[in-house]
Amino acid sequence: MISEKLAKAREYEKQTGKKISKDSRPKFHLTPYVGWMNDPNGLSFYNGEYHMFYQYNPYSTVWDSMHWGHAVSRDLLSWEYLPAALAPDSFYDSFGCFSGSASELPDGRQLLLYTGVRKDDNGEEFQTQCIAVGDGIDYNKINTNPVIDEKMLPQGTSRSNFRDPKIWKEEDGIYRCVAGTCDESKKGTILLFKSSDGFKWEFESVLIENDGTFGQMWECPDYFTLDGKQVLIVSPQDMMPKDFEYHNGNGTLCLIGSFDEKTKKFTYEHSQSVDYGIDFYAPQTVTASDGRKIMIGWMQNWDTCSLIDRKDMTWFGQMTLPREISIKDGRLIQQPIRELLAKRSNQVEYKNVIVNDVLVLDGISGRTVDLEITLRPKELDNIFHKFEIKFAQNDKYWTSLSFRPKESILKIDRKFSGSRRAYIHQRRCLVSSMNNELKLRIIIDRFSVEVFINDGKQVMTATILTDTAADRISFYADGEAVIDITKYDLFAGE
Ligand code: FRU
Repeated sequence: MISEKLAKAREYEKQTGKKISKDSRPKFHLTPYVGWMNDPNGLSFYNGEYHMFYQYNPYSTVWDSMHWGHAVSRDLLSWEYLPAALAPDSFYDSFGCFSGSASELPDGRQLLLYTGVRKDDNGEEFQTQCIAVGDGIDYNKINTNPVIDEKMLPQGTSRSNFRDPKIWKEEDGIYRCVAGTCDESKKGTILLFKSSDGFKWEFESVLIENDGTFGQMWECPDYFTLDGKQVLIVSPQDMMPKDFEYHNGNGTLCLIGSFDEKTKKFTYEHSQSVDYGIDFYAPQTVTASDGRKIMIGWMQNWDTCSLIDRKDMTWFGQMTLPREISIKDGRLIQQPIRELLAKRSNQVEYKNVIVNDVLVLDGISGRTVDLEITLRPKELDNIFHKFEIKFAQNDKYWTSLSFRPKESILKIDRKFSGSRRAYIHQRRCLVSSMNNELKLRIIIDRFSVEVFINDGKQVMTATILTDTAADRISFYADGEAVIDITKYDLFAGE
């Protein structure tokens, strides 16, 4: 049975969604059907398709009354919208159906595990974990909800900050999930829970406690084994900056380490940022049918949303490109999903181009493009000072990516992209150039750019709101640089 609230949301999105033209959206990055989108939820492979749910307010482009939006895809690039999956229609989730994840039950139904939020008369928030079960389109909340509540929390743990369960099924059929919380001093903690049937849950351990190094509350944990290591990806709030590794505010952290079966604790050996750009948060991973681990994040930043003028927008919020992830030499490596290669056309290639002033190259332009660039100095004993690529450019606006080899700093800067507010416009990343070469793969999809550095060792992501007619790309060097460049159009004609 569908509640009145969900029926209303479905009717509203159906009526409003069809009025939004395809051309106002990115070509291959998922946007909300209508209204507002934040975190990816329930990213899973179910009944032959990838399912992506998302934090969703159909009624406006601001965060409010969290529903779950829903879309499906065969290649994680072309999406088909399905009706909203969840609405905040029950006592325990009356303030919102917050983030969560998906798994499959032995009888073939899909299980959604999410955070139900309610407020009591004094305005205190209660966050509990709840279940909805369905067939890939319609979901029923079970009558034993919530299935994990404050009674299961270890002493001293916050019941108003306890959210974002990520579920997985182990080979022996046991379900486990991790969820984020914090202690009284606001230090983030990840809890591990266990269930033999997916419905009855018990507390298993405190998987890891933040010792204060990485922000405060930890949101949206994802925990998995990859390339023989255990990996925890989590989004801490209120981070303090550290060198060029972590920036202030909300960030996304990757901890690589191992799990102790006896104590059920995870300890990390390596820590790093997941994305060094501006807009990346709360990612989730899914294991593809061929075993690849794929990660998708919310391509936005909580610190800028409220400053972006959204009154004329019909949708707000995008997901990142799906990224194939692996662990190599203690680092997270991210590569654009290989299915994107099949969407390339109109190849234009230049080799050994000398850049020593402003340079425009015939055939290199566009707002849905895949660019591969290798950059090196012309002479090793006379290295250029700065190299810059401007894109999404017209006579007034542009976004730039610049590299200063002597400092090894790559900087993304969207200050001239057309925004009238002083939100975050720049971010810098310390890169290691290999044999004096820097390799970049730059993927632009109308309203975003994702820069994969040195075969995916680092990534910088940013959204750009510049009018899509601004499609020029130009190069500049102070000194003498040499580039090889290959450009492809993406999804041409689609
Ligand atoms: C992260 C987050 C989650 C929460 C959701 C609410 O972006 O704050 O912790 O479940 O958004 O929309």
